[in-house]
Amino acid sequence: MNKPKVFVCRQIPRAGLVRLAEAYDVEVNREDVPLAAAEIARRAEGALALVTLLADKVDAALLDACPSVRIVANVAVGYDNIVVPAATVRNVWVTNTPDVLSETTADLAWALILGAARRIGESERYLRAGRFTGWTMLTLLGADVHHKTLGIVGFGRIGQAVARRARGFAMRVLYTGRARASEEAERETGAAYVDKATLLRESDFVSLHAPLTPATRHLIGASEMRTMKRTAFLINTSRGPLVDEAALAQALREGTLAGAGLDVFEAEPQVHPALLACENALIVPHIGSATVETRERMATLAAENCLDYANGRRPRSPVNELARRNLR
Ligand code: DGY
Repeated sequence: MNKPKVFVCRQIPRAGLVRLAEAYDVEVNREDVPLAAAEIARRAEGALALVTLLADKVDAALLDACPSVRIVANVAVGYDNIVVPAATVRNVWVTNTPDVLSETTADLAWALILGAARRIGESERYLRAGRFTGWTMLTLLGADVHHKTLGIVGFGRIGQAVARRARGFAMRVLYTGRARASEEAERETGAAYVDKATLLRESDFVSLHAPLTPATRHLIGASEMRTMKRTAFLINTSRGPLVDEAALAQALREGTLAGAGLDVFEAEPQVHPALLACENALIVPHIGSATVETRERMATLAAENCLDYANGRRPRSPVNELARRNLR
């Protein structure tokens, strides 16, 4: 019997492709550049499954252009690139890759906390530019991290993993989010629930871990930044549009915030030019989950969701529930 087809919109680690090949005829966009919707539709013709990355916009028009597609497996935990209700009404599964990247993304959040506080980017640029002419007392002074207050906005799996790491730095940890976490999560992380205003006012490091939704767009804008300490740092490894980038650049330039560590940007791959000009912004190109091990796990989980479907099972990490049964 012929295998059904899966179209993989971008390159993914081989581990994922090998799993997909167990049940699918695999076609991959090997050029690894984002494809226009019409091109995805053309190359996905007849496909049962579509494997997508963040740059692939999946909306009603694309789903209508790919009527054979019954499952869209996003290789990311965030799925703001997909109009999920449009898939749900068309009885199409949407899946993501939760859990497998939480610890790795938390590591990167910590790299940004430490790197922003200790001016690692600036220090490296300084040294490479040949400006290190000897040890001085007053050069490149940063801020302590240990014994400070860490505020976590969005206390899901990644936010909690960031909080757990703070124990080693003897920090006070606050969190805020849509709802209070379980007693067990609070006990395990040592984090205390507060409202957003308190968190912004009292934290030395504010780290964002909420998904992008209409409610979280510009969650941190000029007025929120004004309530933060002048010595505070803003860390974002979630989604760029949670932060008003122009307002952040202004706060960093005027010194009303001490610094920022950013992995994500409002209009990726573009970065606001004013932000690029801020020495006190440590900026990296959306590498939160970018380790060999984690990218393999993400690709494998996306593939397993597609295999589940091909084998007549409910995908293991769906983000939508379908009213009509869509099991093969
Ligand atoms: C995600 O999974 O949502 C990340 O942003 C991509 O690593």
